Amino acid sequence: MNSGNSTLERGAEILLADDEATFRETFAKVLNEEGFSVTAAGDGKEAIDAIMRRPYAVAILDIQMPGSDGISVLREVAAIRPETRVIMITAYGTVEMAVEAIKLGACDYVMKPVNFDEMLTKIRQHLRYVELEAENRKLREELNGRFDVSQILGQTAVMEQVFETIRKVAPTRSNVLITGESGTGKELVARAIHSLGCTNSGRFIAVNCSAIPETLLESELFGHKRGSFTSAFEDKKGLFETARGGTLFLDEIGHMPMGCQVKLLRAVEQRQILPVGSASPVDVNLRLIAATNRDLHQEIREGRFREDLFYRMNVVGIHLPPLRERREDIPLLVRHFVKKYNAEMGKHCAGVSDEVMRLLVHHEWRGNVRELQNVIERAVIFAEGEIIELPDVALSGSGGMPAAAPGEDLQSAVKAYEREQIFLALTRCDWNKAEAAKALRIGLSSLYRKMDELEISPGRRVGRKSER
Ligand SMILES: Nc1ncnc2c1ncn2[C@@H]1O[C@H](COP(=O)(O)OP(=O)(O)OP(=O)(O)O)[C@@H](O)[C@H]1O
Ligand SMILES: [Mg+2]
Repeated sequence: MNSGNSTLERGAEILLADDEATFRETFAKVLNEEGFSVTAAGDGKEAIDAIMRRPYAVAILDIQMPGSDGISVLREVAAIRPETRVIMITAYGTVEMAVEAIKLGACDYVMKPVNFDEMLTKIRQHLRYVELEAENRKLREELNGRFDVSQILGQTAVMEQVFETIRKVAPTRSNVLITGESGTGKELVARAIHSLGCTNSGRFIAVNCSAIPETLLESELFGHKRGSFTSAFEDKKGLFETARGGTLFLDEIGHMPMGCQVKLLRAVEQRQILPVGSASPVDVNLRLIAATNRDLHQEIREGRFREDLFYRMNVVGIHLPPLRERREDIPLLVRHFVKKYNAEMGKHCAGVSDEVMRLLVHHEWRGNVRELQNVIERAVIFAEGEIIELPDVALSGSGGMPAAAPGEDLQSAVKAYEREQIFLALTRCDWNKAEAAKALRIGLSSLYRKMDELEISPGRRVGRKSER
């Protein structure tokens, strides 16, 4: 790696947010001429939209902007893209805010009027830092035996099958489609395929197809030529080019508008893209992984997803089963998350009580592993003793709100809620049914009937043992 014009610096993604049009346009031009790939935003809202859409190595934010000011944008960057290096631009009278910004996570600030050379030097310093960070991460991963399937926990047969597929598909360049409910680990699997695969020397770029307005998605993915539409002041590289040699993860592909699907299909088939407003196609050599929590077969039937694109992407399909269909994995995940949050918070929880474990194993987990992770994080915070007890655990469905998935029919939502409440009462009464019935204010025979109907029992192991 050379220090002057490193690989990362060439074409590095920079966000420039300033409401002063003359400065913005002139400096964007300078940055473009220096070989950076610049997105310019005229106010805070545009800047936030931009960071939601793609990762930037460096973001330059004016502190004072109409709408959301630079500080609000900074908060968003810190939350969504903590790896982005933020440089604030401050004017006379806003220096105190710059200090505040540093406390909130900005890396640097410059005073107005901005000296272009000074700014360029700072940008290069920060890019160098980003590059070193990436290198360190890679070395750490190599040292830890890389980021691989060992970070995805599961010992059920279906998960073993998933690991096997990941190992087999990783060394190839075949397209992969990952399906599963929200929070089942789709992105985790995509990252594992990337780091075990032959494109792992390149970058892993994730793009959320549902977060980008239809009018912008095409230019985000394929790039555009200067002047191809009103706000296209400069040429811009698309994510297909940014991810060249690496992996492009098309998240929420089920939400991709039809118009964009046609263009994606062409890119997938020909391994070539056509930037908006350009007549010359560009070769792109990368690995494509897509994910969705939608049922694409239904989307195809209802005319919202192209069947040909589905088959192109689904060369290898990986389905992640919901957590409630592999409850045997829950104790393993619980132990893993307790350890993780102990380390993060300097706590010393030894684990969860048997009662809590029973509750966790039987919960509906509509938010899957992500929900379980959040529940354990909270429990570790609240636990006072060595063992996490029932009062430390807040489950959706046991605190008043039923554990219903959005759009679920009322009957199933009510059932899920009933199951949750009855299970909780039984657990609290140590499975003494007479006491639980009393607590629930229903007759003992009603309790037996409900337990039967809702398949509630203390040692119940729900879930198919093997999917395939
Ligand atoms: N099998 C697993 N082992 C360990 N951690 C997991 C597992 N599955 C998911 N997680 C963790 O759960 C969280 C959610 O996972 P991820 O973001 O990959 O889900 P997703 O399927 O992409 O969800 P969404 O559809 O909402 O984007 C992450 O923090 C991830 O590390
Ligand atoms: Mg995801």
